Amino acid sequence: MDIKQAQEQVASHLIDSLGLLTAGTPDNFNTMTIAWGQTGTLWCRPMMTVYVKPTRYTFGFLQENDIFTVSLFPKQYREDLILLGTHSGRNGDKLALTNLTPKPLDRGIGFEQADLTLVCKKLLEQPLDLKAIPESIVNEYYASEGVHSMFVGEIIEAL
Ligand SMILES: Cc1cc2nc3c(=O)[nH]c(=O)nc-3n(C[C@H](O)[C@H](O)[C@H](O)COP(=O)(O)O)c2cc1C
Repeated sequence: MDIKQAQEQVASHLIDSLGLLTAGTPDNFNTMTIAWGQTGTLWCRPMMTVYVKPTRYTFGFLQENDIFTVSLFPKQYREDLILLGTHSGRNGDKLALTNLTPKPLDRGIGFEQADLTLVCKKLLEQPLDLKAIPESIVNEYYASEGVHSMFVGEIIEAL
């Protein structure tokens, strides 16, 4: 698929829906549900940004691998996405509890049931700076929990 068209779909989908963020190798990967993210342009490249807390098991996979994917699904899989966002892969095979089938891609891991998968090459990883965020947001989102890191990836393929 054309990358620009895919970006338009991701932008409208993530405003009121969910996606899966996946990183790792076919033998060792993890996935988690995301609601927060943006797509746009940086350094003259099509980019996807996601926000992940260090407590997520997926976080280590994002750190250790150059490629991550963002996958979007038809509405019928919403319950599966909620499950993948409320269970941790650290505690067992959460994908086995869903109707989703992982699919190794040339680069990265996608899913048989996905409508759209962005394959992203990680170019930036940075924890959000609490000193640069309004106090009201810090109090609302970070009073008791760790701060998100942003992962910015160049979209190298849209499937
Ligand atoms: C609807 C929904 C949206 C979520 N969005 C995010 C997100 O954008 N960033 C994040 O760090 N966690 C998000 N989460 C939480 C993770 O998906 C959740 O902690 C998940 O269990 C982590 O899985 P893991 O430990 O296997 O990586 C979301 C959860 C749900 C249910």
